[in-house]
Amino acid sequence: MPQLNVNGRLRECEAEDDTPLLWVLREQLGLTGTKYGCGIAQCGACTVHIDGVAQRSCVRPVSTVTAKEKIVTIEGLAPDAGHPVQRAWDELDVPQCGFCQSGMIMAAAALLKAKPKPTDADIDAAMTNICRCGTYNRVRAAIHLAAGQVQRKQIAIAIQTEGGAA
Ligand code: FES
Ligand code: FES
Repeated sequence: MPQLNVNGRLRECEAEDDTPLLWVLREQLGLTGTKYGCGIAQCGACTVHIDGVAQRSCVRPVSTVTAKEKIVTIEGLAPDAGHPVQRAWDELDVPQCGFCQSGMIMAAAALLKAKPKPTDADIDAAMTNICRCGTYNRVRAAIHLAAGQVQRKQIAIAIQTEGGAA
């Protein structure tokens, strides 16, 4: 029976080799914060971290992940949802319907780990997640807030223009 290292715990799972990691996380381990959107690596709703790197779990066969690799889902990102990205998301009321948001947060957290002070171009390059509610401007503002590059009052104008292109 394969083992996965998920959110700091070794977990047993039982699945065909080609079963996407997403379904093991959601259906066997009950970690339903990671969402299914497209199933073809386009939308990013299924984003988790594997050894700190954002990965789209809908196209990652579970058999290709070893127990040595550390999987982190939105549930394990930080105790009490206290990751700087989660706090910034909360402060700026980023989510609308919320469906894409755990994937957005996981992608943003991985970005900030790799680039603690990202430019807008860095954010645009890394944040390829799709949001049907159009939260892109708030996502960008919240990443800058989480990075400590701006203060809350400095981003009022940015979020007022919400609804435009990413
Ligand atoms: S569900 Fe994985 S990228 Fe859309
Ligand atoms: S908040 Fe609704 S899809 Fe992004």
